[in-house]
Amino acid sequence: MGNTWFESVAEAQRRAQRRLPKSVYSALLAGSEAGVTYRDNTGAFDELGFAPHVAGLKEKRELATTVLGQEISLPVIISPTGVQAVHPDGEVAVARAAAARGTAMGLSSFASKPLAEVVAANPRTFFQIYWMGTRESMVRRLERAREGGAVGLIVTLDWSFSHSRDWGSPWIPERLDLKTMVKMAPQGLSRPAWLASYLRTGKLPDLSVPNLAEPGQPVPTFFGAYGEWMQTPPPSWDDIAWLRQQWDGPFMLKGVSRVDDALRARDAGVSAISVSNHGGNNLDSTPAPIRALRSVVEAVGGDIEVVMDSGIRRGGDVVKALALGARAVMIGRAYLWALAANGQAGVENVLDVLRNGIDSALLALGHTSIHDLTPDDVLIPSGFSRTLGVVVPAPTPSPESVPAAESVPTAESVPAPEPVSVSVPAQ
Ligand SMILES: Cc1cc2nc3c(=O)[nH]c(=O)nc-3n(C[C@H](O)[C@H](O)[C@H](O)COP(=O)(O)O)c2cc1C
Repeated sequence: MGNTWFESVAEAQRRAQRRLPKSVYSALLAGSEAGVTYRDNTGAFDELGFAPHVAGLKEKRELATTVLGQEISLPVIISPTGVQAVHPDGEVAVARAAAARGTAMGLSSFASKPLAEVVAANPRTFFQIYWMGTRESMVRRLERAREGGAVGLIVTLDWSFSHSRDWGSPWIPERLDLKTMVKMAPQGLSRPAWLASYLRTGKLPDLSVPNLAEPGQPVPTFFGAYGEWMQTPPPSWDDIAWLRQQWDGPFMLKGVSRVDDALRARDAGVSAISVSNHGGNNLDSTPAPIRALRSVVEAVGGDIEVVMDSGIRRGGDVVKALALGARAVMIGRAYLWALAANGQAGVENVLDVLRNGIDSALLALGHTSIHDLTPDDVLIPSGFSRTLGVVVPAPTPSPESVPAAESVPTAESVPAPEPVSVSVPAQ
């Protein structure tokens, strides 16, 4: 067997692409519409720079921190994803890898493995839900999560049911019966290593969501559960405050971009938010979270934990996010590609790649700890940041822009009449 170690997330992605059937790889790549947000999520990190020192560097660096009450050995946690059909061990392999590398795991309610198995592999597991079903069914889901050993709840609210991609969405069957297996056979046969990994377990991916099963009811299929979610009226802030009261442990609201939403989330009693756009899978043209992070941290960072996700591909990205105020980051595709490439060892590998990258950036920046990072550690180009959801006072007109008594006002010379709530560049 060749060397399975990979040196970068980019290489894990290449290996995932070679190993996975086209439709599974395409489902992981995801993104929506024109991919403007998907590209900005990573492109924005490239715009931020470092100014490294060359002497006086620190011999030892500290990467440990806490998120939602859990101690983690590096400021990177596993973001919840429905990893259907990527690897037969799925989320259990991810949980084992996260535990081996001393970090926490977010488990999606659309995951392929039961919560109890994941918690057995990694006790630092947070369960993730969407606003879906009735209040009664949500309460039952939370009870099962508590009984299953989840040590925190992640509520994801940024999904906007955007179902189109300019580069095409994969066809994914409701279930793998004989008919769909025949239809998908060419794809499976073109990826023999992936197929063999399933055949060795004696099973094919079953595309069901065990954590959404109601007692005494059959386990729903992925699309069955998705249909229920689509039909659920979206929540109000009062609903979120109610949901928060149903869970007595740490509670993260995932998917915040706007300052006003961050303030409302704080007021609803959440313990943490993730500044996130779901990896660019939702409303396209939403700016990269790294651009919005600073304004959100300034608004609520003193009251609740602020983490961010979307676009993390290297340790340097993690350091940039921490410098701009994130407590930690969550990763999605980086570990999914690694899982596809090499199972549990692949996820351990990707966490090591990130750890080494964080350590290397800390060394060059002359810090002994991630907690010493500040915005001064990054070069932020003008116009980089975005402040979403803030009432911006109208500019005070300068004497030159005030029209003379007799002159006819033009569009340019009229100051904005009212404060406006818009997305504006800010530093
Ligand atoms: C294939 C895929 C499935 C996802 N499923 C979920 C999910 O079930 N629940 C959730 O909260 N977020 C889900 N996400 C979003 C991730 O948790 C995370 O926000 C996103 O992947 C971060 O962006 P990144 O992939 O660039 O790191 C999913 C993302 C991808 C790519």
